[in-house]
Amino acid sequence: MSNSKGVIFDLDGVIVDTAKFHFLAWRKLANDLGFDITETQNEELKGVSRVKSLEIILGWGGVTLTEDEFMEQMAMKNDNYLSYISGMTKSDILPGVSEIIDFLKENDIPIALGSASKNARNILEKVGLYQSFDAIVDGNDVSKAKPNPEVFLSAADQLNVAPENCVVFEDSVAGIQAANLAKMTSIGIGEEAVLNEADHVFTDFTEIEIDFIKKLVTK
Ligand code: BG6
Ligand code: MG
Repeated sequence: MSNSKGVIFDLDGVIVDTAKFHFLAWRKLANDLGFDITETQNEELKGVSRVKSLEIILGWGGVTLTEDEFMEQMAMKNDNYLSYISGMTKSDILPGVSEIIDFLKENDIPIALGSASKNARNILEKVGLYQSFDAIVDGNDVSKAKPNPEVFLSAADQLNVAPENCVVFEDSVAGIQAANLAKMTSIGIGEEAVLNEADHVFTDFTEIEIDFIKKLVTK
């Protein structure tokens, strides 16, 4: 295990603004089942796997489904989500993200993706970032959902970087908790009030100075 640094990016809500599409698709599912979900409730779904999200939502609505119905709802949610993201291109990479990835690559800092999504590879291909990552760990590769640190520990392992030398960018409470449990430096992207467990919080990547990244990955 080297002493060098590594950087791990969450995908949804960090690299691309797909968090809003997950919300729209979950909201449609809830509405079809006869209830509504709010944006505040949605914070609890961010970073959480598809199965776990549906369990939480059904709990909110007080709805019980058979196993077959559960599978059917998951498939419908994903079909809707895929239709929302079908037209994504390079232009959907959130402002400031490419500059930071370019800086890390120019400085030989390895980068990984650590996402709960089973659609992560597909989205990275769409936005032209698939080849930029030295390691990709997504919802197909892990069995324990964030806040369990498995996804980030596995990413660090694949980068061959010690967990305490990794920096994680995350937009979800569950993801920040996972990064903290992995003993990594956690950087929240979003609202300070929501992500208050993070080591640092920025509204978005345009707020992050390259000097700040430089200090994190060189110290
Ligand atoms: C996370 C999102 O990245 O992936 C969650 O924050 C989503 O909202 C989860 O439910 C699983 O995604 P997918 O694409 O496998 O349904
Ligand atoms: Mg996210």
